[in-house]
This record gives sequence, structure tokens and C-alpha cells, in this order.
Amino acid sequence: MEQKWWHDSVVYQIYPRSFCDSNGDGIGDLNGIRSKLDYLAGLGVDVLWLSPVYQSPMDDNGYDISNYQAIAPEFGSMQDMEALIEEAKQKNIRIVMDLVVNHTSDEHSWFQQACESKDSPYRDYYVWRDAKPDGSAPSDMESIFGGSAWEWHEPTQQYYLHLFSKKQPDLNWENSKVHDEVHQMMNWWIEKGIGGFRLDVIDLIGKDIDKGITGNGPRLHPLLQKMNQATFGNKDLLTVGETWGATPEIAKLYSAPERDELSMVFQFEHITLTWKDGDKWQPAKLDLRSFKEVLTKWQLELKDTGWNSLFWNNHDLPRAVSKYGDDGEHRIKSAKMLATVLHCLKGTPYIYQGEEIGMTNANFEHLEQYRDIESLNFYKVKTDAGVSHDEMMLALQENGRDNARTPMQWSTEPQAGFTKGTPWIEVNPNYTEVNAEKDLASDDSIYQYYKALVSLRKQHKSIVYGEFRPLLEEHEDVFAYLRHFGEERLLIVANFSSENHQVDLSQYYEFTPTILLSNGRGKLENLDSLMLQPYDAMVIQLT
Ligand code: GLC
Ligand code: CA
Repeated sequence: MEQKWWHDSVVYQIYPRSFCDSNGDGIGDLNGIRSKLDYLAGLGVDVLWLSPVYQSPMDDNGYDISNYQAIAPEFGSMQDMEALIEEAKQKNIRIVMDLVVNHTSDEHSWFQQACESKDSPYRDYYVWRDAKPDGSAPSDMESIFGGSAWEWHEPTQQYYLHLFSKKQPDLNWENSKVHDEVHQMMNWWIEKGIGGFRLDVIDLIGKDIDKGITGNGPRLHPLLQKMNQATFGNKDLLTVGETWGATPEIAKLYSAPERDELSMVFQFEHITLTWKDGDKWQPAKLDLRSFKEVLTKWQLELKDTGWNSLFWNNHDLPRAVSKYGDDGEHRIKSAKMLATVLHCLKGTPYIYQGEEIGMTNANFEHLEQYRDIESLNFYKVKTDAGVSHDEMMLALQENGRDNARTPMQWSTEPQAGFTKGTPWIEVNPNYTEVNAEKDLASDDSIYQYYKALVSLRKQHKSIVYGEFRPLLEEHEDVFAYLRHFGEERLLIVANFSSENHQVDLSQYYEFTPTILLSNGRGKLENLDSLMLQPYDAMVIQLT
């Protein structure tokens, strides 16, 4: 496998709105990020992926872009952006921009011009269809944010498509002028010295609307190959596609190097296991065996070609420690356990802001506390359809996107040190206990543990390129695997439960075990009967 700089890199995702507010308006901004570069460099991360900071009316917090080549004033200026790229570069950190090109904002000048008349040269930048003879929408396609995906445009008497909110009209990727515009814009950013792109809901751009196909449409891969050639192809950048519908087979189409598409994709199979019948508003309990099975499948299927991205959470998902660990009594230990399991897999790990200090779900009790358009829309859709208020509030507490969007908890100062003003969304009251200042001051904090894992990846080729072998596959509470490269063997063992477990790894009896990193124990005598305490995790070198 040809080695790439992003193979042993760790990416840190920033949700700018909630990261650090430099001017007291309650909204995180670029200068706030600049002020925390030492904190990020200290963690050892190589890349920062910024959720969108472009000009936007913020219907979906920036995933609705009205100008790709301008910064939203609330986040700062283009000079601030350039300074961030430059200052990060001095610390060997690259900036990955979020590329949202399945749709724009309805306030983008392209859409505004498209709305002027059916003859506008921009009309065909978007997807328009006539009403059915009875005046109803062209199809019963639904928006991912709830309700119809079609919005009637009275002045020009047609419907336009929006797979997300009606303020996010879909671009028409059947129009090659759209390709040219997007490619030009991407090259403009590449010239600014960025490290790559995270491609938002990219599996939707090949859609065939009249056949009702949205994800993984027939034009998807040719479009990505064209984009690759016209933009980042020969630039050695990191590109990661958000692909909810990817199977390992599909992931290989995107990420096999000879296909010249993307570096890697985010797949969501392990995430949707806790959604009953694929509905995130019906949260289900984690079944560790299926979870292991899915992750193992991805490790094995992409072992020779393609590349995995590794993540437990992001700005759309609940907090990992609340979802898969224990955010009460065992918060610290289970956060470290989850980190161990993720960071020793093969692929590029992503840390979502606050994960490195074990931030937890928001636990909002009132609908008024929520800000997210998806949560608010679905509260209405579901309660209109008969789901009770209480049930929906529980679903939001479990899986709502605002769980990940409460402000980063920096210190014990008011508002967790995030802002001197009033934050746009409430700070989690547990900031007095959970904050970065405290973690930086302690030797065995979650932050220090993440730092150790990031550096372990740099020191051990087996973590980056080693063969992956699942162990104890039938175990209901323990996740264990071996990474093997040349003479080096690393054994990763993790207890996902609050019970003690004795496990037998005596098949490795001929080796001497040395603990490289652990959230609980210092020494190991042998592997015959390893006693695991609640949420114990360890990386064991076998020599
Ligand atoms: C992606 C983003 C999400 C956004 C949606 C529409 O899923 O991660 O935050 O709402 O795309 O752009
Ligand atoms: Ca601000």
C-alpha cells in the first residue's frame, strides 16, 4: 500500500459555532479557534476539520451556504481565515474545509437568479419540476429533515427540490456548469493552502430524482472522478466523504487509490445499529456483538485496498461517552476505553471537539432549549403523527444533534469559559466538573490519555498498517483484537461494561505481555486469565 501522510494522522473536528467565542457575542469564531491552537497542537492532532464557516443565513448552522468564497461575519473575516491556515501550518496542522455542494442556501445568488424566471441562465443550477396535474408535488419524496422534499415556487409556478430544509435547495449535478463552478471554487480554496475537504452528504450528488434514487445514484462515481481530476487529484490532500449509505463494497469504490476519487469515507453502519428500524428517533440499546461484527467487517474488507475513517461521534451525533460508555460513575474510565478501541483500529481517527475531555450529552429537558432545525422539525412531525411529547423528548435526549453542539467546556469560569456573553445554546451545567483546564492540569485525565493514543499511533507501524485480527468474537461485553505488523504485535482489550470479566487470551501464552497504555492497570503477569474491571482497556505489546 502506498503510504500517505494522512495514514498516521489524527483529525480533530471543530464545530466553530460552539468551540470558542473571542468577542463575547455568544458565538464561537475563527479567532477563538486561533486562540486555542496550542491546546490542539498539544493534543498532537495533525488536521483540523472545520464545520462550515462560510457566509450563510444559518438555517442549518452553516450547512446552507450563500457564498462559498466569503466567511460568515459572525465567524470572522477572510483575513482571519487566512491567518488561521497560516498559524496552524506553523504548528504542522492542516485545515480541512467542509464542502457542502449537494445544496446551497436559498440565499445563494445562484438560487436567487434561478428564481427570477424559467429562462434564467441559473435556472438549471437547481432541480425544478412541474406540479402534477392536480397541483401536488412531483413525487412523494421526503426531506431528510421531515416533510416533503419539494417546495412550490409561486412566481415561476414550479417545485424545487430540497433534500434538507427548504432553505437548502439541491444543486443540479446533471448540469456541467455546476461542476465548473464548484471545481473553480474548490481550486480557489486549495490555493489558500488548505489540507483538504470533508464532502458533506456527497453520496447524494449522483441522484436520479425521477427514478426516486437519492443515495448512491448512477452518476456518483463519475462525478467524483471528474472532481478529483479538476481539483485535488494531484495535490496530496485529505478528502473524506460523508456517505450514510456506504457498504464496504461502495467504500472501496470511493477510496481505492487507483480509482482517483477520495482518500476515505465516513460510513455509519456502526452508528445506525442503535436506531430501531433505521429511525434515529427510536433509539435502541447497544448490542456490543453486532457493533463488533460491523467494525470487524469494515476492518477486514478494507484491509488491502481503500481506507477507513474511524469515529464515534460528530456534530450530528450524540456524545460517545453517553452513547457507548457510562457518563455517570464511569465517565472518565469509559471515555478512555472508547478512545483505546477506536484509536488502535486501522484507519484515520477523528476526535470531535470535547470528546477528548469526555463531554457528555446535553440532557435538555425543555423543547425551548433545542436549537437544531432537524430536532425541532421532527418534534413537530412525530408529535403530529401521534408520538407523545415525553417519548419525543427522550428520543431527542438520546439522539438529537444538539447533544454534540453545546459549547466546548474550557474552564470553571462562567459559561465554561466559552464566551463572556450569552451563548447561542446552553452550556452543559456539568462544566464545573468536566472542563479542559482541569484535564490539562491532571496527569491521568482523558485529554492526556488521548494525547498518549495519538502519539502511540506515530510510534507503532502496527497501529497504522498492521493486520487486524478479531479476538473473543462471541463475547458480549469485551472487545478485543490483535494488530500485527512485521515482528510487532499489539493486543487491544476493552471491557464495555460495568461488570468484571475474566477473559482467556492464552493462545498468546508464548509471548511476554507489556502494557503500553491502559486506563486502569500497570502490570500484567500473563494472559491465561486476564481479570478485567469495569471499563478496563489496555494496549498490550507482545514480545
Ligand atoms: C450533513 C451534515 C449535517 C447537515 C446535512 C445537510 O449530514 O453533517 O450537519 O445538516 O449534511 O447539509
Ligand atoms: Ca464570537
